[in-house]
This record gives sequence, structure tokens and C-alpha cells, in this order.
Amino acid sequence: MIPELSNPSVCMKDPQRVQEILEAMVEADSKTLQVISDFDMTLTRFSYNGKRCPTCHNILDNSKVISEDCRKQLDELLKKYYPIEIDSSLSVEEKLPMMVEWWTKAHELLVKQKIKKDLLATAVHESEARLRDGYKLFFDHLHEHSVPLLIFSAGIGDILEEVIRQAKVFHSNVNVFSNYMDFDESGVLRAFKGELIHIYNKREGALLNTGHFQELRTRPNVLLMGDSLGDLAMADGVQDMKNILKIGFLNDKVEERKQSYLDAYDIVLVEDETLEVPNAVVLHLTGKK
Ligand code: C5P
Ligand code: MG
Repeated sequence: MIPELSNPSVCMKDPQRVQEILEAMVEADSKTLQVISDFDMTLTRFSYNGKRCPTCHNILDNSKVISEDCRKQLDELLKKYYPIEIDSSLSVEEKLPMMVEWWTKAHELLVKQKIKKDLLATAVHESEARLRDGYKLFFDHLHEHSVPLLIFSAGIGDILEEVIRQAKVFHSNVNVFSNYMDFDESGVLRAFKGELIHIYNKREGALLNTGHFQELRTRPNVLLMGDSLGDLAMADGVQDMKNILKIGFLNDKVEERKQSYLDAYDIVLVEDETLEVPNAVVLHLTGKK
């Protein structure tokens, strides 16, 4: 077993099964591996020094690119809809229309702000967004070993790319599926492109991008990382999947949600702000440990 799997933050319903998946994936060689990860609160931190860290949307919510009035409205949306997102007493069917409503209303508000493309880098630079500790090893190692990393996010692609660009880890092995902004010829936000990706339609998002998975058809072994139960559908576009190891970050409402996370994810990391365990798994799968 990988020593880091004994860390106090690690919970597993079936450690034997995790061992079997790891063995099968090591046997299969890293040339057959791909990593699919969520972004907000999975690759980025949930909290730092006791304070919540921003999502891609929150980076804009808290920035100077929007008006004070818009900030208040976005904040009200967050206060109304985030508790619904993490409410374990509601089913996905009950939450889904409310999540669509959240994203739709927030994007409508952002579009009205006529945000300029060239201000996004400053907004990210001045934000308190933070990739999880160990991010450099994670991104650099996957790049060095030519393992494709798909970042699949219901956040905002332009912001997400800027976060990893400024952290100097936007390597050539990284692909992003997300909500991208559409700017007019003078660089002003006029809409969001394509189909909306929200927290519960990552399956549809994956199936719209079959070309990506087609290119990776020689990589049927998947390491999946997420922080929401909706993230489990991110690998639904992978053809002829052989093995999948699912690592889930449980950041909030730990007691209420622990059992459902243990049932859904192979490895659950409880209030763990680091990439220590994913890094240990990645090193193991690429023959470094
Ligand atoms: O990258 P990921 O798929 O995790 O992005 C989705 C996250 O963005 C959700 O967990 C949600 O809490 C957050 N969100 C937000 N503001 C919005 C819409 C979504 O912070 N307007
Ligand atoms: Mg997330």
C-alpha cells in the first residue's frame, strides 16, 4: 500500500478494492493512464487560515471588474444556492433545476457588467485563489511523464486558465472543458459560449466532447478527482474504460455527507487541503514509488 493512504485525512470504504485497482493500474503502465480532475475546491483550496478560498466565479464576484451592486446580487445568489448544492437531504433531481437557475442568473449578471478581457489577469492576480499545496509536483510530474490531464470544470474557463497560467503549470498535457466567455471584437464580455456546464451535467459535457476522449482511447486507465458527487460523471466519455480510481475531497458538511462520499469515491480525503495523497498515487502509478 502507498504510505500516504494511512494519513489521518484518508477514509476508504474498501481498502482492499483500492489496492486491487492500484495494482491493476501499475501493471497496465503509465502510457495507458489519464487524469480527469475537477477544478474548484479540488485542485484549488477550500480554505486557508480559516477563511474560505474563492471559486472561479468568486474571483470575479470579489474583483473590481464588477460593480458593488452586482457583487451584492451575486453574493445573495451564493447565499441562497450554495447551501442547496451541499444539502445531502435533497436528491440530484431536486437540486438540478436550482443549480441551472444559479449558474444562469450569475452568468446573466456577469454579462451585464461588460467585463473587459484584459482585466481578467489582474482580477486573478489580486484574488485569494490558491491551488492546493503540492500542485507544482502534481502538474509538473504529469507533464514530465506525458500523462494527459483533463480539467473539467463548471467554473469559468478563462479564469481557471489564468490561475494555472500564473502558477506556471499550464503545460501542454493540460486540456480544459469549462464555461468560456465570449468577447466581442473590442474585448468586452457579451455572452458565455456553448452549452452551460453546471455541477450536475458533467456527463452531458463529457459526451459533447467525444473527440477528446477518442484521441485518448489508448488510455483506458483513469485517475478521477473531484469534490462533488456530480464530478463522478466526468469520465463518462472514456471509451473501453479498464480501471478507474476515484479520489474525492470532502471539504464541507463532513458528517452529513461522509457516507455518500465513501459509497461513491474509492478514496475520500476529509478536510485535506493538500495534494499529498493524489501526488503519492500519481508517483506510484508512474513507477516512481
Ligand atoms: O470547477 P467546479 O466544477 O468545481 O466549479 C463549480 C463550483 O463553482 C461549484 O462548486 C459552485 O459552488 C461554484 N459556483 C460559484 N458561483 C456560481 C456558480 C458556481 O461559486 N455562480
Ligand atoms: Mg469543485
